[in-house]
Order: sequence, then structure tokens, then C-alpha cells
Amino acid sequence: MSIPPCAVVVLISGNGSNLQALIDRQQADNFEIAAVICNEPGAYGLQRAANANIPTVVLNHREYPGREAYDQELIKRIDAVNPDLLVLAGFMRILSAGFVKHYSGRVLNIHPSLLPDYRGTNTHQRVLDAGETKHGVSVHFVTEELDGGPVVLQAVINIEPQDTKETLAKRVAEQEHRIYPEAVSWFCQGRLRMQDGAAWLDERKLPQQGIRRTPV
Ligand code: GAR
Repeated sequence: MSIPPCAVVVLISGNGSNLQALIDRQQADNFEIAAVICNEPGAYGLQRAANANIPTVVLNHREYPGREAYDQELIKRIDAVNPDLLVLAGFMRILSAGFVKHYSGRVLNIHPSLLPDYRGTNTHQRVLDAGETKHGVSVHFVTEELDGGPVVLQAVINIEPQDTKETLAKRVAEQEHRIYPEAVSWFCQGRLRMQDGAAWLDERKLPQQGIRRTPV
């Protein structure tokens, strides 16, 4: 009897290029995207899911009285699928403490900076304004602290003098599409977990920056 693939639910808000990278890797990496949930009707990522025959759910946050009510509905829809892992792929909503607790240790996020630096939004412009020479992307476990959970994997890029926020966004996105499927596959193989506020890979506690991929 073959082992069923690890079931993943992906949450998106927009373009879904990270979702696409996951779709492209799911078969080879033995995970299965069981559903895509999106808070923005009309997001292009919904089309990507439909093209790959993945069931979609649109939950428009504007139709709920507040964060708690929205997150309760989100939990209901996710639990109906009973996934092993939740993957936030450009899901631009702050999650309530109750939601995070419910899925503790089973939620990954990708953030366009070298965490713990540059949490929040507009990261590409902020690193340029600060005169940084390095930038990148982080995959991390989600905890109640916004962009603050233990880092699993980072990819670093060098900032060149001619870089703009657009060129950085493009180069960071290329790295995102490389490292997110890798981290998901680690989790799905049972190699990655969150314990005592840290990320562990192959029974090894990872440092604050996780595994770091530097430019070749
Ligand atoms: C990605 O760059 C991701 O890192 C970022 O949103 C983008 C989504 O792109 N996420 C965050 O900023 C979360 N704080 P996509 O919809 O094409 O995957």
C-alpha cells in the first residue's frame, strides 16, 4: 500500500506565484495541495489553482464583522479538509491568536526579507533606503508574533548599485520559488518541526537565521 501524500492547504491573497511554484513541485515532492483558500475574489492565484484542478474557496474578509469571526470561518473551512500543513503564500492578513494556536507548528509563511530584519510591508524599498548590501527571503513557522516565528530557510541576494525595488522584487521572487517548495517538502517528509520556539531539521535545532542559502 502506498503512503498518501501529505495534504497541504495554501492560503493566498493575490498573484499566487508561490502557489504556482508549489503546484509545480507537488508531485515530485510527494505533497498534495488539497485546497486553496483566498480572501480576495478575483485574485489571479485562484485561476492558477483552477488550472491545476485544485478546489478553491473564496472567503472575502469584507463580509465578516471582524477578525475573530473571519478566522473562525477560515478554521471551519480548513478543518473540513484536515490538512497536515498550512502554507501562507502571500496571504496578506494578520491571523488572530486563536487561529495561530489552533494550527501551532503546522503553519509556514514566506516573507520577503532576511528575518528578523525588515518585518512588515514594503521590504524592498526599505532595504534600499537603509543602504543594505544584502537582502533576501525567509521561510518561517508562524507564531503569534507577526513575521516573528522561527526561521527555517533563507536565501540571500546581493544588492547591486543599480537595483530598484522592482529588480529586487523580481530576484527575491525567484529565490522564493526555489526555497518554499523545499521547506514544504522537508515538513511533509517529517524532517522539519517546530519545538520549544525553534525550528528543527533532521533532529538538529536550527540557528536564528535557519538554513541560509548564499548567492552562488
Ligand atoms: C511574496 O513576495 C511573499 O513573500 C509576500 O507576498 C508575495 C506574494 O507573491 N508575502 C509577504 O509579504 C508576507 N508578509 P505571490 O502571490 O506571487 O506568491
